[in-house]
Amino acid sequence: MSTNVVVVGVQWGDEGKGKVVDALAEHFDIVARYQGGANAGHTVLVGTKKYVLQLLPTGIVRPDKTAVIGNGVVVDPEALRQEIRRLEEAGTSVDRRLKVSDRAHLILPYHRAHELAAESARGAGKIGTTAKGIGPAYEDKAGRRGLRACDLSDPAKFREKCMAIVEEKNRIDAALFGAPPLNARELADQYLQVAEGILPYLADVSVYLNAEMDRGKRVLFEGAQGTLLDLDHGTYPFVTSSSSAAGGACAGTGVGPTRINSVIGVSKAYATRVGSGPFPTEALGEEGEKIRERGGEYGAVTGRPRRCGWFDVPVARYGVRINHLDAIIITKLDILDPLAEIPVGVEYEYKGKRFKDFPPEIESLELMKVHYRTVPGWQKHTYGARELSQLPPCAQDYLKFLADQVGVKVAMVSTGPEREQSVWLDKSVICP
Ligand code: GDP
Ligand code: IMO
Ligand code: MG
Repeated sequence: MSTNVVVVGVQWGDEGKGKVVDALAEHFDIVARYQGGANAGHTVLVGTKKYVLQLLPTGIVRPDKTAVIGNGVVVDPEALRQEIRRLEEAGTSVDRRLKVSDRAHLILPYHRAHELAAESARGAGKIGTTAKGIGPAYEDKAGRRGLRACDLSDPAKFREKCMAIVEEKNRIDAALFGAPPLNARELADQYLQVAEGILPYLADVSVYLNAEMDRGKRVLFEGAQGTLLDLDHGTYPFVTSSSSAAGGACAGTGVGPTRINSVIGVSKAYATRVGSGPFPTEALGEEGEKIRERGGEYGAVTGRPRRCGWFDVPVARYGVRINHLDAIIITKLDILDPLAEIPVGVEYEYKGKRFKDFPPEIESLELMKVHYRTVPGWQKHTYGARELSQLPPCAQDYLKFLADQVGVKVAMVSTGPEREQSVWLDKSVICP
């Protein structure tokens, strides 16, 4: 029986999924992305090489793995072409190792243009998106007017459909935002040219994955963003527009739920968030600044400073329930090394009532009081540790405390950005 695993972010993205998927990929044959688009920024360090992957699944950096972009991903053909080129320039070929779903929806320039205009019209209420056209592309998908990767393979039909859509978008954006029109024919022709670099990779990803699983190959499903950015389960409306939680893996690749054997959540040893929206354990001022500087917490895609704060137990417990996590991986433990004390948000209080579960409405989240437990820091180096014995007792206690509070075992701890900078506590979820 093959063993297939989903890796999902438990917080608001940037948990270190790229590092973790790269470390885990050794044990799998295929790495499949199931949602999101070039809004993702997964940083992976291999020796002296640094990759920032946006659309390509992290498995692509290992030459013996196949990388799959599922139907749930929204693909900007130009961004994909450039990413493939960057990778090939760095000496990593994607030939015969990359499969892009023929059903994946396309992001085209009108999506980005619409998003920029809509975000700026929102003023102070803006979501703080990555401006990659993600929301408008998923709107078109749900509105049943999107263009899909398979449309690129018939130039005449693509030109006809694309021009009709661009003309409609031009009318909408002119009326709503006074935006200048895009040239429909030029745009269609430009993307047909871009398509030439993408068409060789198109495949029926569901057929491929199911056949490979039948042959006993192992698939690692790589989530982008995180549970709290999930369209249904996140801090709506300050979310992305896809199903980033583990449930999205099936819809986003055409694989049935019973083919997935386990789900692993990734969380930082503290918390960060980019963009607007509630963040109950946010550390403002100097405290947050210190984590940001030490953790290098600046967006991989937009360069924006990430908001920083403390580990939030109700958030992690929510991640356990929504994704039915079998285990959690804690990253960036080393960033907490200098601290004498570490606050952990353990309970929320709202209107005089205390609770440990994550509430649905933004209003209560914004007014929420967080109760903290402060645990002793270790004030010793953990950077690069590979064995449990290299972690100071207080660091081990911190991990035990998190596991007890969250109610799930810690499978691995990351102590640096490189794949070997990892301490395994329980490998059974990966290697049963
Ligand atoms: P992702 O979007 O979840 O893949 O995370 P990002 O790549 O956006 O952000 C995580 C950042 O932390 C990247 O720069 C990683 O190289 C880095 N990183 C990951 N794990 C560790 C770790 O354990 N320690 C340190 N110091 N850096 C890490
Ligand atoms: P990875 O995969 C962190 C955030 C944006 C914004 C909101 C909506 O690297 O963890 P979007 O452009 O998706 O419509 O923006 O979601 N966001 C992320 N934050 N990591 C990401 O991806 C993100 N992708 C989107 O900042 O708040
Ligand atoms: Mg990221």
